[in-house]
Amino acid sequence: MTTPTVSSVLDRVLVLEMVRVTEAAAIAASTLVGRGDEKAADAAAVEAMRAALNELDMNGTVVIGEGERDEAPMLFIGEKVGTGQGPAIDIALDPLEGTTICAKAGPNSLAVLAIAEAGGLLNAPDVYMQKLAVGPGYPDGIIDLDKSTTENVCAVAAAKGVEPRDIIVCVLDRPRHEGLIAELRGLGCGVMLIGDGDVAGVIATSDPDTTIDMYMGSGGAPEGVLACAALRCVGGQFKGRLLFRNDDERARAAKWGVTDLDKQYDLDDLAKGDCIFAATGVTDGSLLAGVKRRAGKMTTESVVMRASSGTVRWVKGEHRIGG
Ligand code: FBP
Repeated sequence: MTTPTVSSVLDRVLVLEMVRVTEAAAIAASTLVGRGDEKAADAAAVEAMRAALNELDMNGTVVIGEGERDEAPMLFIGEKVGTGQGPAIDIALDPLEGTTICAKAGPNSLAVLAIAEAGGLLNAPDVYMQKLAVGPGYPDGIIDLDKSTTENVCAVAAAKGVEPRDIIVCVLDRPRHEGLIAELRGLGCGVMLIGDGDVAGVIATSDPDTTIDMYMGSGGAPEGVLACAALRCVGGQFKGRLLFRNDDERARAAKWGVTDLDKQYDLDDLAKGDCIFAATGVTDGSLLAGVKRRAGKMTTESVVMRASSGTVRWVKGEHRIGG
């Protein structure tokens, strides 16, 4: 029997299987929406995602997960998942992106997963990343972290044929972004502040319905890689730079093979080659509706997309409560 190529496995088997995995995590987390217990919601999602992954015929390695082995009992970085049959695949996951959102029943909490051929996803350390993103249709290199906020907004506005005051920028609502928000408001931009969930925030730049033109600010580096896997499929540009607060974080980066600590990462540096991104909504959001329970049934909404083909599939699931 010949071993299938990575690409054919990604193509034929895993695309829709990915949705089963994110659905399982979202359904598990959904029982804890609005219950004020972030840890319990995360644990439920992690356990369900791990069980679903382990049913798949693949030789998967978690490259972005719940943390390092000594701090995360499940889905830790380096954990092998799947049945072990088939070619090597790297997996970046966040079983519950937006734990606080889920606990408070806010918008845009997701179960998220990205897979790529081995070596395709940056093994990003769990540190902050400065992020800058725009949707598709702009000239290459229009955004640049070495340029100021004003320069980036003006470049995007000029390319769009509008004034800077017409640009809408999504930013995480954090005290560390005070200066950024003030500069954007000084330009007259609309600033859409989100409480959490920058994977959805970055992806929103690729969806004209959100009216968001740009994403700016710092957030988790692992979430940056996940968002890039999605942008590789739907188009858009992303720049990222790791931010280190202390020597311990620098040492973490070195451990994962990051040598140039000041590097400006491009989309392809973070997620390269063929990759698949899948997400299921836990709570309602700009990308997906959340899990709904009514009359003995649950409904889920998911998206699965593939970089090589640019195919985006929207999947609505109806599940009997209790299996
Ligand atoms: P969690 O799901 O781990 O709670 O992450 C939510 C999130 O908002 C991410 O989307 C974002 O990248 C990160 O937290 C920002 O970190 P911080 O809350 O420290 O600003």
